[in-house]
Amino acid sequence: MVKVLFVCLGNICRSPMAEYVFKDMVKKQGIEEIYIDSAATSSEEIGNSIHYGTRNKLKEMNIEYGNHFARQITHKDYEQFDYIIGMEERNIEDIKKIVGKDNKNKIYRLLDFSKNPRDIADPWYTGNFDKTYDDIVEGLETFSNYLRQEKQVLLNERILEKCLPSYLENDLKNLKEGIKNNVTYLDCLINELQGSVNSAFVDGDISEEQCDYFYRKYIRMEI
Ligand code: 4NP
Repeated sequence: MVKVLFVCLGNICRSPMAEYVFKDMVKKQGIEEIYIDSAATSSEEIGNSIHYGTRNKLKEMNIEYGNHFARQITHKDYEQFDYIIGMEERNIEDIKKIVGKDNKNKIYRLLDFSKNPRDIADPWYTGNFDKTYDDIVEGLETFSNYLRQEKQVLLNERILEKCLPSYLENDLKNLKEGIKNNVTYLDCLINELQGSVNSAFVDGDISEEQCDYFYRKYIRMEI
């Protein structure tokens, strides 16, 4: 299950709007396997409910929202979520101050998924929740496309790595473990795999597409 956490300064205006709009979006798209939550970088609004501006906009758009209590992001969230998505650049900096370095590449700015990367309009001083909503929908639509493509890539990989002769399966397993454990003899493991891929292709045990995939992903490490 993919887990997504939206983050803004107070967790009362922008991130809960993103949370509930995205819950509505994935429900309408029939995608059930996403867990969605939101949090703040500051402790300012902890325990408070959604700002009336966000609530009114969600009501206007017929989007359901729950009994929200603002909460602050914790270090544990970094481990538990796959995507931690800030609304503006400042959020990204503040998130990193709390969770530390983004070693696992989980932290993003929402509109960096779009063709026009920018901060989500902040309604706090302007009171313009319409603009915030439009920005959030733009970001979420592009993020949702990104997730779909990621899923397709994973699915394709799973298909291409299926039904392999046992000697190739073993060499692939050894190489993956070698990569995970950062071993110094990775070149040997890659050579082993290359030999097995060549044999499997010559013997007709794998397709040309599979052969090409193994070369690109594990031998030349291009993808
Ligand atoms: P949010 O909005 O970060 O979108 O929830 C704000 C909430 C509180 C403050 C600023 C923005 N504040 O300054 O307290």
